[in-house]
Amino acid sequence: MKKGFLKLMALSVAAVLSMGMLAGCGEEQGTTDEQAGGGTKDVLVMGTNAAFPPFEFVVGEGQGLVGEFDGIDVAIAKKIADKMGKELQIEDMKFEGLVAAVNTGKIDMAVAGMTVTPDRQESVDFSDTYFTASQVMVVQPGSDIKSAEDIKEGKKVGVIMGYTGDGIVTDDLGVAEGNITRLNRGIDAVQDVKNGKLDVVVIDSATGKALAEENGLEVVEDPTVFETEEYAIALPKGNEEMLNTVNEVLAEMKANGEIEELAKKYN
Ligand code: ARG
Repeated sequence: MKKGFLKLMALSVAAVLSMGMLAGCGEEQGTTDEQAGGGTKDVLVMGTNAAFPPFEFVVGEGQGLVGEFDGIDVAIAKKIADKMGKELQIEDMKFEGLVAAVNTGKIDMAVAGMTVTPDRQESVDFSDTYFTASQVMVVQPGSDIKSAEDIKEGKKVGVIMGYTGDGIVTDDLGVAEGNITRLNRGIDAVQDVKNGKLDVVVIDSATGKALAEENGLEVVEDPTVFETEEYAIALPKGNEEMLNTVNEVLAEMKANGEIEELAKKYN
């Protein structure tokens, strides 16, 4: 009787142990696979949202710096890939999904005219900054909108989903929800200003200027209200090696004037 009980105990201990070992095995295998995939690949995957000229936009197939993609960010990312001896691959996705994509390893980095914000810093590491921007207002020529104050009430205000401009219009200016339209792309928002569906679009300066020019619209600035924002590259948290390489490339491109040249070339 006593023997039988001990035997049962021993058996169940063995069963629990082997289950634990199996579970351990599975976990280890998963990690190894991932590491093998990450370590041996010779492509660097840049995530972006290519509706943001002059930083990233789509041209004809094969006519961009990388496939159909062109712009300041594409040029910078290409330098980074070159430095790493990798081939640059571009994943065009919703801007809103970029931080999560970096965080989960779906992409290696997000290069997307992305403003450094405390919120985003909780999920990703940012490189050194490479461009200073601010929000501007894109309006029809002759509009009565002359300052940020003028859009607080009674105007149909467009913003782009997930952009910093959305937070500024919603939280800082306190524009009523009923007056805000959130669109997926700056290009569409600006079209709506052109056809009168919106009175104004609040968007990043360089992009606002580029889109206004293309569409015969005007840009209104208000530096007292719209503070400067800094663009940086979003990287997975804690990847010191990659952060250093990216910062080295940015430092080189700043020191030799390449970034400035790119800004001129694409504007
Ligand atoms: N700078 C703004 C932000 O970080 C807008 C960036 C949009 N970039 C893009 N590639 N669509 O929210």
